[in-house]
Amino acid sequence: MRRAIAILGGTGALGQGLALRWARAGEEVIIGSRDRGRAQAAAQSIVQLVGPSALVSGMENSAACARTKLCVLTVPFGSQAALLKELKAVLQAGTVLIDATVPLAASVGGRATRVLGVWQGSAAQQSAELVPPGVSVVAAFHNISSDTLHRDAAVECDSIICSDDEQARKIASELAEKIPGVRAIDGGKLENARIVEQITALLIALNIRYKTHGAGIRITGIL
Ligand SMILES: NC(=O)c1ccc[n+]([C@@H]2O[C@H](COP(=O)([O-])OP(=O)(O)OC[C@H]3O[C@@H](n4cnc5c(N)ncnc54)[C@H](OP(=O)(O)O)[C@@H]3O)[C@@H](O)[C@H]2O)c1
Repeated sequence: MRRAIAILGGTGALGQGLALRWARAGEEVIIGSRDRGRAQAAAQSIVQLVGPSALVSGMENSAACARTKLCVLTVPFGSQAALLKELKAVLQAGTVLIDATVPLAASVGGRATRVLGVWQGSAAQQSAELVPPGVSVVAAFHNISSDTLHRDAAVECDSIICSDDEQARKIASELAEKIPGVRAIDGGKLENARIVEQITALLIALNIRYKTHGAGIRITGIL
């Protein structure tokens, strides 16, 4: 079943990069923001890049969330819990919420190369605690650099996808593979998101050490 993709916090680096790639793939994308004008401006800039056939709109986060049962969360860890609490009333049962949040220490003024301890185990597990019943949380896209998404070239990176809901994991995997070069890897249960989130901090450190912006991962040895 084809659904529009609402990207909550979609005006940022990762959200815009994903929006660009999915719009290019012909998906309908709704960019969410705290500010409707900012969301519309971000949507307009994607349409300019992709062309007039692009199905991209912008609206306030809660309006975007209410429009579809497929949401992607791309906000800094420091605002993740507050935003989910705010969206509780509009998140519909049957929604797949794909969470890319990494609990980087930078989100609370620390270093981007460190992750914070999250009481629930990971940012994704924190989301799972905060969403209403019937909403399935999937952890995905943590190891894809926004920089690579904003380029034209294929994104040479795997996305390890974790969820306790197999069908939701499948939906997120299909979405990941709409991005040229990305391979979705079944990462199993949501609790494994803790490891995947930590890899992002390592990738940021590698970007600094190797003076690049596009470090990613490939899992070898599996078809
Ligand atoms: N950037 C990457 O390459 C990358 C890669 C993998 C994972 N991630 C993770 O993905 C998430 C987003 O990363 P990003 O680099 O795109 O972040 P970002 O650009 O700093 O922020 C994304 C958006 O979040 C919204 N936001 C900021 N503060 C907020 C608040 N207090 N309440 C509600 N919304 C707020 C803003 O949208 P509005 O101001 O329009 O509301 C902003 O444009 C982070 O958790 C990050 O760790 C990022």
